[in-house]
Amino acid sequence: MRIFQNRAATAALFSPQDVLDQMPNSILLIDREMLSIVYANSAAEVALKVSQKNLIGYQMNDIFGDSPALDDLFHQFHTDGSTQRIDMVLGHGALRPDQKECLAYVILSGIEGSDLIVFEWFEIDQQMKSAREERLILQARANKELMRNLAHEIKNPLGGIRGAAQLLDYELPDPSLKEYTKVMIKEVDRLQTLVDRLLAPHKRKKEISELNIHEVLERVRSVVLAEFPTGLAITRFYDVSLPEIIGDKEVLIQALLNIVHNAAQILEDRRQLGDAKIQLQTSVSRNVTIGKKRFKLALNIHIIDNGPGIPSEIIDHIFLPLVSGRASGSGLGLTLAQSFIQMHGGFISVQSEPGNTDFHVQIPYTSLEYLNNSELRGEL
Ligand SMILES: Nc1ncnc2c1ncn2[C@@H]1O[C@H](COP(=O)(O)OP(=O)(O)OP(=O)(O)O)[C@@H](O)[C@H]1O
Ligand SMILES: [Mg+2]
Repeated sequence: MRIFQNRAATAALFSPQDVLDQMPNSILLIDREMLSIVYANSAAEVALKVSQKNLIGYQMNDIFGDSPALDDLFHQFHTDGSTQRIDMVLGHGALRPDQKECLAYVILSGIEGSDLIVFEWFEIDQQMKSAREERLILQARANKELMRNLAHEIKNPLGGIRGAAQLLDYELPDPSLKEYTKVMIKEVDRLQTLVDRLLAPHKRKKEISELNIHEVLERVRSVVLAEFPTGLAITRFYDVSLPEIIGDKEVLIQALLNIVHNAAQILEDRRQLGDAKIQLQTSVSRNVTIGKKRFKLALNIHIIDNGPGIPSEIIDHIFLPLVSGRASGSGLGLTLAQSFIQMHGGFISVQSEPGNTDFHVQIPYTSLEYLNNSELRGEL
């Protein structure tokens, strides 16, 4: 009896529309007779890049263009009345002329006792992207654990080696031999810095608060411009209406600084010519999937540079530790940046070609409770 009451209360809270809007797949409800759209869920609005208001009343070919495959699907559905499932290319009709085709898994089904047809689909590319992101997130976690343990193991004997090298340095009778002990001390110090960089983020106490992402970006911008004062322009396209995000400000500054700093370094030739450009963009997206988790709202930050692009042989691995294309690089900057953003439930992806490299940092709008939950605790 009690369970029944709770259920009734829950059902009263969520309308069928609310439920459809929570679904990860794109859904259109279609009038069986007129074949026009009567409803689009949030995922469909995002996938089609058209609001529900502007979809209602239109027909399938206005949205997906003339498609024999789509006609066949509806024909088959009307003929045998059973649910149809198929992989097909969804094109674009007059309502969204500039958009790309996509390969999708489509399900067409009826609702018993109603005149509505359910047209449901998910983009196969999107599905693969989610699976890939999820894999990378798990891989990054494993890497982080490995690097942290390795750093501890290396750190312990370093102090001893340095002390012994110093003692040896004092004791050596022949000054020309001191050159060797100097090399030992210098190399130990280099390793020490590397190890400290790996361990530092985990030593710091987390400080989570509401913060303005533009303040973070402005700080990053001024730090990078102070280091590279000539030949580089850092332009901003900020959406100033963005709500505040919850996170650790210093950690976010470090993550974004690592990305912008890389871009400024790689732009060396263009800086000398005086036309090096980095663009910082912000916006929001609704109903976003990061890895396998869905979020209602996410912040997008794009860091775009006009440099030579990421070499093809390293682009698939640049977030892995110790992968570097620079002679003096340690290959940790992007590993740490990815880890810092993932601590906020987000993800960094990259697209690159000569003249245009775009790092896309996506951070979901979450709550303090979310960042403190068991999965993220200890990581931030
Ligand atoms: N905007 C970019 N354009 C082209 N290549 C890039 C860009 N950003 C990063 N890279 C490549 O990715 C590599 C890895 O970057 P990462 O920041 O992880 O390490 P690093 O810069 O080499 O060393 P450090 O640990 O000092 O940051 C760089 O060495 C560079 O080759
Ligand atoms: Mg770097």
